[in-house]
Order: sequence, then C-alpha cells, then structure tokens
Amino acid sequence: LWTPLNIIEDSIENVRKQVGDDEVILGLSGGVDSSVVAAMLHKAIGKQLTCVFVDTGLLRLNEGDQVMDMFAEHMGVKVIRVDAEQRYLDALEGKTDPEEKRKIIGNLFVEIFDEESSKLTNAKWLAQGTIYPDVIESAGSKTGKAHLIKSHHNVGGLPEDMKLGLVEPLRELFKDEVRTIGVELGLPEEMVRRHPFPGPGLGVRILGEVRKQYADILRLADNIFIEELYKQDLYHKTSQAFAVFLPVKSVGVTGDGRRYDYVIALRAVETIDFMTARWAHLPYDFLGHVSNRIINEIENVSRVTYDISGKPPATIEWE
Ligand code: XMP
Repeated sequence: LWTPLNIIEDSIENVRKQVGDDEVILGLSGGVDSSVVAAMLHKAIGKQLTCVFVDTGLLRLNEGDQVMDMFAEHMGVKVIRVDAEQRYLDALEGKTDPEEKRKIIGNLFVEIFDEESSKLTNAKWLAQGTIYPDVIESAGSKTGKAHLIKSHHNVGGLPEDMKLGLVEPLRELFKDEVRTIGVELGLPEEMVRRHPFPGPGLGVRILGEVRKQYADILRLADNIFIEELYKQDLYHKTSQAFAVFLPVKSVGVTGDGRRYDYVIALRAVETIDFMTARWAHLPYDFLGHVSNRIINEIENVSRVTYDISGKPPATIEWE
C-alpha cells in the first residue's frame, strides 16, 4: 500500500541495503527535493550522511542561516556550509548575458561541490533529489533552460573521476508525494510548500551584472513581498512570487527632496505546470501596500512596478 509511511520505510530499507556502512554526500540547496532527501537519509543512515550546502550569496534573506538552523541545529544532520559569496561575485563581475550567468553559477557550484566532496575521502555515494518528472525529462531530448535546470539542481555535471554511486530515493515520486513525505519526516509545512526557487537564485533576478549591493536590496524587497503575501493569506493562491532588481534609476520625491534610485519589479504568477502561466491578479490595495513598504523601508529604491505579462509570451523569470 502506498501510504507516506510505507514509502518512507521502504526507502529507508533500500538505502540501507544499497550503501551499507559507506558514507554518502548530498548537495543540500534548501529546496524541497534535496531537503526531503536529507531528512530521509538522516533517518536511514544518520552520521554516514554529510551534506554540502553552498551559500552562493544569491539566496533569499536569511536563507543560509535557516537551512543551517533546521538541518544542523534542529535535526542534527552533518552539514558543511561553504560561504562562497565572494567567489560568485568575482566570477560574475561584468557578466550580463543570462545564459552565460547561468553557466558561470552552475559551473562554480559544481567546482565548489567537488572541492568539498574530495575532502570527504570516505564517501562512496552521491545522493540526489531526482524526482520522477526529472527522470522523464532527461529521458527526452530537451535542451535549453529545462536542461540547465536539471544539470544545475541535480549536480548532473560532476566530474567523471568522482566515481560515486548514485542514491536517488525520490526517483519514483511526484512532487506532491515528495511534499507529503517531507511533512511526514518532520520538515515544516511552510518549507515543503514554499514556491520553487531557481538554481541560479537571485543571479537571474538581478538583471544584467550581479553586484552585492543589488543582491542586498533585492533580498529586502523580496522579503517584504513574500511576508505580505503570507500575512494576507495570498501566498498559496500564487504559484510563484518574487521581486526582480532592475539596475535602472528613476526619480522620486521624499520628505527631504528629490531622490534618484533603483526600480523593483514584482512578479507573481498562477500556473499548474510552469510551462504556461497567468499573472496573478493580486488586489490593488495589497500591491499598493507592498509598494509603499518597499519604497519607505529600503534605501535606494524609488519605484515599484508590477509585472502583468503572461507566459507566453514572457517567461516567469526575467532572465
Ligand atoms: P521560466 O522563466 O522559464 O521559468 O518561465 C519556469 C520555471 O523554471 C524556473 N527556472 C529555473 N530553475 N534553474 C532552475 O533551477 C534555472 O536556470 C531556471 N530558470 C527558470 C522558474 O523559477 C520557474 O519556476
């Protein structure tokens, strides 16, 4: 019978059989799939699991600390946190092309993950959060973004000579089942139901060149938007919502006079499959409130716009 509990018990048994006493590494991103794998493997093999969490500096507000809190402090999972913000900023300096940025971010992730895992000389297995739709997708001949999504998220580009066996306990599951199992394994509901977040993170939500100042502004704006969506009970009425940083300056006025600052765009969509999407018809009052908060609370932002483009013709992300 396919109940969440049975699936968990089966998977635990299979993983134990597969890896025996060997050590296993997992790239933990904070996303649903890798988090559920971490929780599952922790339960199955405890200290034989080591997670590598790369803090790219392109994550959302406090996201790195939250991941560490939940897994390392709370659950006692072994997690190596790599603070790679400066490396990412250096690698992305002067780069403006979206696909080139994606490549740089993805390659650097693989490089850092490889550095860390080569220190774990006893590791024989690499765990991945591959889920059933990923299996189907990579069986086809998809190219472009879809392919990059997988190659980044699932660390598909690891060097051949790592010679690690693969552990993929979610390979037969759909996203909804992964979520249910996550909750059953004790992950917070809020975490497993969080909107998807792209592998390249804020790197593709800062248009053009990525700079630390831009990322810091964007984190604050995004946090206000998401916080308000939760407060007004609108978060789960959208499929994905986020802020985008536009590196253009616009004039505004405040009490003390004229200002000339950056622009934030808000994006919220409703979709089932993310292949097509409708822009979310959020209430005007709500949008007005979020806009005021962003402009009042964040220095260097003088204007907020709302994206009313459907997919197609626009994509969900701006890059
Ligand atoms: P687009 O912008 O193509 O986005 O309409 C569709 C969905 O895919 C996500 N997305 C990505 N996810 N790496 C990822 O892991 C990427 O490079 C990437 N680009 C887009 C996007 O957030 C949306 O959910």
